Amino acid sequence: MSKILYPAQQKYIDSFRREPDELLKEMEEYARENKVPILSWQSAEFIEQIITMIDPKRVLEIGTAIAYTTIRIARNLSKKSVIHTIEISGDIIVKANEFIEKAGVGDKIKLIEGDALTVMPRLKKKYDFIFLDADKEDYKRIFDYSMVLLKKNGVIVIDNLLWQGYAASSRVPSDYKTSTKHIREFNKIFIEQPNLKSTILPIGDGIGLGVKV
Ligand SMILES: C[S@@+](CC[C@H](N)C(=O)[O-])C[C@H]1O[C@@H](n2cnc3c(N)ncnc32)[C@H](O)[C@@H]1O
Repeated sequence: MSKILYPAQQKYIDSFRREPDELLKEMEEYARENKVPILSWQSAEFIEQIITMIDPKRVLEIGTAIAYTTIRIARNLSKKSVIHTIEISGDIIVKANEFIEKAGVGDKIKLIEGDALTVMPRLKKKYDFIFLDADKEDYKRIFDYSMVLLKKNGVIVIDNLLWQGYAASSRVPSDYKTSTKHIREFNKIFIEQPNLKSTILPIGDGIGLGVKV
């Protein structure tokens, strides 16, 4: 249960969820059973709405995991648009490719295996939409590269900025202390970034939304 919204509000919002299709259900079940962190369905739906609103031609995702959001974005892209997604773990890429094939959206997705910190400086063309969802200790450096790669008026979405509620809590369990510190430091940088109109929304695990100006 979320520690971000009151349980009653969370339950109320959840009661409006439309039935996901079989593939999304299978992916969510796989993630649950294998303890793979994937984006919450609320945040995934929010990203789908943004994709529909801004119709990006080029999308970059950092942290593919099993390609749950990659597929959801790809399905909502217009004909000539593409998503590039970077994943460091070779093991999970095998599963991501299986799901991408099942989804039948392989022609819209380029999966790049590697550490975003070495891949991103080599990317030449800019993006209209960037989704950052990797390890929290790398957020600051990946965000810096993202700002270089994001077009003017481009949109960036960043997950986990409320970090299960701990970002705003005075009581943080010891195994969350370091990651919470990283998130708090990052949030300050994100909100104070001069060429970005940014905000943190209580959707899913806390979504950072920024528009480059
Ligand atoms: C929270 S999961 C991503 C979930 C996925 N975006 C989704 O929406 O379902 C984070 C992923 O980022 C990957 N990752 C972490 N640090 C990375 C890095 N520096 N470069 C590329 N991938 C990274 C991890 O291996 C993990 O699979």
